[in-house]
Order: sequence, then structure tokens, then C-alpha cells
Amino acid sequence: MRINRVLEKSSGLQSVIDQDLGFGNVFSDHMLVREWADNAWGDATIRRRAALEVEPTALGIQYGQSVFEGLKAYRGTHDEVARLFRPDRNAARLEASCLRLCIPRLPAKEFIDCITEIVSVESSWIPRYRGHALYLRPLVFANEGHLAVRPSSRYLFVITAAPVAPYFSSSTPGLRLKAEGRFTRAAMGGTGAAKTSGNYAPTLQPMAAASQDGFDQILWLDAQEHAFAEEAGQMNVFFRIGDEVVTPELSGTILPGITRESVITLLETWGIKTRSRRVSMRELADASRSGELLEIFGAGTAAVVAPVTSIRHLDEEISVAPQAEESLAERLRETLLGIQHGEIDDPYDWVVPVL
Ligand code: COI
Repeated sequence: MRINRVLEKSSGLQSVIDQDLGFGNVFSDHMLVREWADNAWGDATIRRRAALEVEPTALGIQYGQSVFEGLKAYRGTHDEVARLFRPDRNAARLEASCLRLCIPRLPAKEFIDCITEIVSVESSWIPRYRGHALYLRPLVFANEGHLAVRPSSRYLFVITAAPVAPYFSSSTPGLRLKAEGRFTRAAMGGTGAAKTSGNYAPTLQPMAAASQDGFDQILWLDAQEHAFAEEAGQMNVFFRIGDEVVTPELSGTILPGITRESVITLLETWGIKTRSRRVSMRELADASRSGELLEIFGAGTAAVVAPVTSIRHLDEEISVAPQAEESLAERLRETLLGIQHGEIDDPYDWVVPVL
């Protein structure tokens, strides 16, 4: 695979990136585009970010044959070096998502080469504030115009880059979740474990209703019994109950988050008992009543680690006990950001410098 560069003069807009960046409001100057046609991936090109030529009956937009990823490049606090966080895990997950939707596989090395190249072209767009990053959004979608429900013969692989702050502002003391008892995110045998575009639109209607009722996010429950916690909004979710931390197991309906995986590794390294298993709403309500529910937090690439203060489930408010000591969520967030910004050792080899 060759990666061609057709670069245009920088817009210079990166110099005005500030603390109020938000998430997804601003995009860098260039994008990477690669096409699958005639049964093969072609060369990649990095060119000016602009509208794409998409067939009106593209199978990606008609029937949702589309998958994506999210990863971040951080600027070193002391050395200015751009660092990617575990891009090999995104490459592996993208391959799994492609397989699930009959999209041609994108070899991991080529995925990482494309990511590295766009980061190196757009490195001036990596924000300087701690916790801010250049968010990379790789997307693969079917671009053959057709009306039969079958795999496409043409695809586009596109990487766009957006300088971002964390998804939730750190001034939010904690999120309020609504445990969703009617709508579900994923059912066994569906696509919940893949990062498909189609997993997200069905969350909009329940999220709009939750937001109208004053909640920040939804706690998704299992599709069969509406009794077990699955994910918090677009994040994996963790519960600190007594002296252990539990997170819903990867049963097939839950996205295998890279931050989730990293959080589990950190907790285990710190000697904190951590288990992936089913977590029922009844267990959470009991733990809240007895004062043993010490923390709830979400974990994801966009959000990093986001504390949750309460979950509304039916008529009950499931709240975490007030804490005097530093929270695990805070310690995890600080450690992850420390590694990502190159401030502290990276004993796990998670970080990949882009030189
Ligand atoms: C991410 O955390 O990277 C995600 O994909 C969540 C996004 C939909 C905001």
C-alpha cells in the first residue's frame, strides 16, 4: 500500500484551538481516503478534507453496511511527541467489526500505517491542553449503489481527525444515568459487540427522552430481562462494590472497549480485585442501600473515565456513597492521561510515538 500526499496549505485554524473545544465541533485540514474496488484495497491518499462522492443508493447508507473506530493522538507534555494509544487494539476491533458486516478486512499493519501517516501530517492539530487530543475517526462504509440486500463491491475507508476535549467536561461532578427499561442497545446474536454505525442511531430516541427528564446518559440493560447493566451511554461501565470492582462481562452484546481493557489491567496491577461478570440492578440497588456502592464510572476513548453519581432505575435512585479519599475513577483517569501524554512510565507498551 502506498500513501500519497496531496496536501494543501494549512488553514492555520489549529492555532485558535482553545479550552472550550468540545467534542467533534472542529476538524483538521486533511483526511485519508482509500477505496476498495475490483476485490482489492487501492493506495491511500491524504488530501484536503472535503465532501465525499457517495452513491445515493450506497449500501452503506441504505442498509447500514458501515463500521468505524475512535482513537486519540496525544501531545507529550514534556517532549511535544505525538503518541497514539493502543492503535493495534483498534485495528483488531475494526477487523472484527468488518467481519461481522461482510466488509473486506483491512490488515492491521495497513490500518496503523494510515493512522500514523495522517497523525504525522496533522500533528500541528494535536491540542496542547492536558486531556485534549486529536481524535481519529476511521470509517469504512459500502459505496456501491444497489438495492439488493447483499455485501457491496465497493467501499471507502476514510480517516478524519478532530481536535477534541474529553466527551464530558471535567467540571461535571458526575453523570446521572437513567436505566432504560423499554429500549435496548443490543441483543444476543446482534451487533452489540461490533462497532457498527447502525448501533448508534437507535439510541437517539431514548437518549432524547432521558435528556428531557434531566439525565445525562442512559444505562443500557440486557435485552432479555431488562435486569442487568450493560453499558453507560457510549461507554463501558464499572461499579466499585465493597473491595472489588465489577464490569459487565463481554457476553456478545457489549462493545469490547480499549479503555475498558486498559482499566482492568491497571486495577489488577494495583491489586484491586476486578471481575467481569453479570451485574444485576438488584445487586446495585442493594449495594447502594447498604452503603457498599462506592463508585460508578464509565470508560471509553472519547470520555476517558467519567464518574457517575446516580442511576435512576424504575422508582429507585441508586446512588454512590459519599467518599473522602481519592476516587478510583480519578486515579484511573490521571494514570491513563499520564501514560498518554508521556508523563509517566508505560510498562504495558500501550503508547506508540509518531516520529
Ligand atoms: C469513542 O469513545 O471513541 C466512541 O466511539 C464514542 C463516540 C460514539 C462518541
